Amino acid sequence: MDRILVTGGAGFIGSNFVHHVLAHTDAHVTVLDKLTYAASEAALAGLPADRFDLVIGDIAQPGTVEPLVRACDAVVHYAAESHNDNSLEDPSPFIQTNIVGTYTILEAVRQHGRRLHHVSTDEVYGDLELDDPQRFTEETAYQPSSPYSASKAASDHLVRAWVRSFGVQATLSNCSNNYGPWQHVEKFIPRQITEILMGRRPRLYGTGENVRDWIHTEDHSSAVLRILERGRIGETYLIGADGEKSNLDVVRMILRLMGRDEDHFEHVTDRAGHDLRYAIESEKLRSELGWSPVFSDFESGLAATIGWYRAHEDWWRPHKEAVEAAYAARGQ
Ligand code: NAD
Ligand code: DAU
Repeated sequence: MDRILVTGGAGFIGSNFVHHVLAHTDAHVTVLDKLTYAASEAALAGLPADRFDLVIGDIAQPGTVEPLVRACDAVVHYAAESHNDNSLEDPSPFIQTNIVGTYTILEAVRQHGRRLHHVSTDEVYGDLELDDPQRFTEETAYQPSSPYSASKAASDHLVRAWVRSFGVQATLSNCSNNYGPWQHVEKFIPRQITEILMGRRPRLYGTGENVRDWIHTEDHSSAVLRILERGRIGETYLIGADGEKSNLDVVRMILRLMGRDEDHFEHVTDRAGHDLRYAIESEKLRSELGWSPVFSDFESGLAATIGWYRAHEDWWRPHKEAVEAAYAARGQ
């Protein structure tokens, strides 16, 4: 694949993937990104001009998408509205971008016979009990809880239908919670780190017993590239790094790594419909495609992420107060 179109490549995970592709292949990358509040052009700064370009535009606009798809060999589709709490406030951009946008991409790859990899989330499977010995697999039934996860579930169904009905050459992946550099301060880990840096307390929704299955974004990128290069058409691969932790344990770890008392946090209003636990079984990806994560030590990955936010205050600071004002209005 000589030319890869990455939608949402100015976001947290998409920008990491762009760096990963440029470092590990000879491909040219074009990013298509609307530059919403979640995007960061800084994450793409300094990339080689002969191998990279950025097109500012909307994935839900066929006139924007069609010529870019025609000009590439493969599309890796990250663009989405990604934050559950925002989807509870206003679902409309989630329906438009995540569903109509994915439909628009599918029609273009169908028209031009291009390869597609669709990036999705483990949240499409709903949640697990804390003591359930099962984890999510590729066979788990869909049961999304929030407008965000329902819109991602809808996009997955569209991709599968376009594979079966129209022979579109697509693979899908569903990944667990990512952490690492360039993640927006609205998300759990950056929010807590930056609250502490500003002399305030981390905030746990509800009891804090909810479990997320953490993976470093660099490991997500290596898995997506592996699936793009070697995955079987029509197949779904779950991506995870065996990183289950309760939110309470993560907050305590952040506080300890930042030299604070481990109990120096607050409980705040819980998220409506808050999923209890996510857990990924990634055996298919590992045994079939030979992938494994590199960042297997969560604590050292978290320490490096804390160091990154300490060093990049000029990047996150301008967004911080607006995000906190929205949380405060909801008692969070
Ligand atoms: P993000 O919110 O950081 O970035 C999303 C990017 O998409 C932004 O650059 C934004 O400008 C762009 N975008 C939004 N609407 C657009 C539109 N209409 N047209 C073009 N560009 C648009 O999100 P993220 O956390 O990097 O997630 C990226 C993808 O990975 C999403 O599809 C998400 O569902 C999936 N995912 C995320 C996680 C996670 O932990 N964050 C885990 C699994 C899967
Ligand atoms: O599982 C994959 C999903 O992970 C992705 O599909 C989403 O795009 C991504 O945002 C993430 O969803 P979550 O809802 O799990 O992530 P978030 O960072 O919003 O919250 C993680 C957990 O922390 C969740 O249980 C809610 C809780 N939380 C969050 C915030 C912002 C808190 O306890 N306090 C907070 O301040």
